[in-house]
Amino acid sequence: MQVFVAPDTMRMWSLGERSKGHRVGVVPTMGALHEGHLALVDEARRRSDRVIVTIFVNPLQFNQSADFASYPQPIDDDLVACERAGVDAVYAPTASVMYPPGFQTHVEPGDLASRLEGPKRPGHFRGVATVVTKLLGATAPDLAVFGQKDFQQLVIIRRMVADLDLGIEICGVPIVRDADGLAKSSRNVLLTPADRAAAPVLSRALAACAAACQRGERSADSINRIATSLIEAEPRATLEYVDVVDTTTLRAVDRVEPGTAVLIAAWFGGVRLIDNLVLDGD
Ligand code: PAF
Repeated sequence: MQVFVAPDTMRMWSLGERSKGHRVGVVPTMGALHEGHLALVDEARRRSDRVIVTIFVNPLQFNQSADFASYPQPIDDDLVACERAGVDAVYAPTASVMYPPGFQTHVEPGDLASRLEGPKRPGHFRGVATVVTKLLGATAPDLAVFGQKDFQQLVIIRRMVADLDLGIEICGVPIVRDADGLAKSSRNVLLTPADRAAAPVLSRALAACAAACQRGERSADSINRIATSLIEAEPRATLEYVDVVDTTTLRAVDRVEPGTAVLIAAWFGGVRLIDNLVLDGD
């Protein structure tokens, strides 16, 4: 497995592989790799001949410095995990390589970033869009794979890649969950044991929404109330939002249709978790 820290050598390797007729897939990550990331690597492997994982904890997308400071960065373990997963190349630039003195160009996403996570995390999606554009530029892939857990991020990246004519296929991979339903996240390790025990209320709330939808419930308000009341009944959870939205526009809907999703954000102690589920309201 090759490890690159500079964009030029990374890009040369990728373009070299593509010139040999190999399809190159990239999995952008912030490290602290878990089974959710490995599912992304598996998907990249299925869809391409060479797999690159990028590891970079992007300061631009953290709107709280404490969140950035506490973000886990087990780079040695991550490299071992990549090697074991059969990754061909890792791109792990430093912050000064990514944002050298004089850096001043950003990618500003549009309306999609003004909803849900947007107002709660000012500047977050601008940081994500900027770094993803740079990571795609450095890795020059045919395909990039992202998790559906960061649902809004995936929708914004798809839009950005189309709007900026980047010509890269974007692939979304379903959420990987622990046995008790908690969505895998690098932040889960920061939960206290009591908060970890309480956190699966999010997936239970989503499951209750899906069950109501299966019974024929189509009112977005009712679906919202089902999730809200379950989460609010959990004393360790502080609910930030439950939104029932269209998966393309991310606008709130009145009725559940095919392509409607429930998106949730809640705090457990000092840890903010998100989760979501696409409903099949046909
Ligand atoms: O989803 C993540 O891990 C990050 O937001 C990403 C896409 C790697 C950009 O830093």
